[in-house]
Amino acid sequence: MRILAISGSLRRDSHNTLLLRAAGELLPGSDTLELWDGLREVPPYDQDDDAEPTPPAVAALRSAVAAADAVLIATPEYNHSLPGALKNALDWGSRPFATNVFRGKPVAVIGASAGIFGAVWAQAELRKVLAAMGARVTEVEVAVGQAQEKFDSDGRLVDDETRARLADAVGALRAEVEPALVEVAA
Ligand SMILES: Cc1cc2nc3c(=O)[nH]c(=O)nc-3n(C[C@H](O)[C@H](O)[C@H](O)COP(=O)(O)O)c2cc1C
Repeated sequence: MRILAISGSLRRDSHNTLLLRAAGELLPGSDTLELWDGLREVPPYDQDDDAEPTPPAVAALRSAVAAADAVLIATPEYNHSLPGALKNALDWGSRPFATNVFRGKPVAVIGASAGIFGAVWAQAELRKVLAAMGARVTEVEVAVGQAQEKFDSDGRLVDDETRARLADAVGALRAEVEPALVEVAA
């Protein structure tokens, strides 16, 4: 199974990016988690530019999503919502509306913040956006509050409770792709 991981943070030492790396380590060896690194290159959405030839960063995003079996998005919270860069990329991803690459795609949302609530509002807004795009939003929530305390200086996840929640979320996303996985786990 191929999982595309999208971090909503451009920050070098982003806790959301680290969370996605930790998720990758919880996958069975037969699965791959590819971290998409094109967010910075996506231009501001302009409907006039949403035509052939598609801007290269947008084409890369659309083909990465299309090639994935599932998408895992980790979002920080900016002013109680999702970061503009992430929303912008999803706006590009949502077109053409009827056939957009997210339509029917299993997607799970997780998040980390410096505050105590773990980006819960950003996650809720992101799920709403994904539902509007027609994605199959998996019912999971991993809300990592005070994220700076959950990783060591090498960026490794050191909080067992967070790891357990992350494992549940990854399991639920995989089961969304292959429902038989749930039966095996039960
Ligand atoms: C513009 C901006 C707005 C923020 N707003 C919130 C917020 O509403 N709630 C919150 O918990 N943290 C907020 N933060 C703090 C982020 O949670 C923190 O920077 C977090 O580490 C970002 O995620 P990252 O480590 O993946 O970059 C904000 C940070 C920035 C830069």
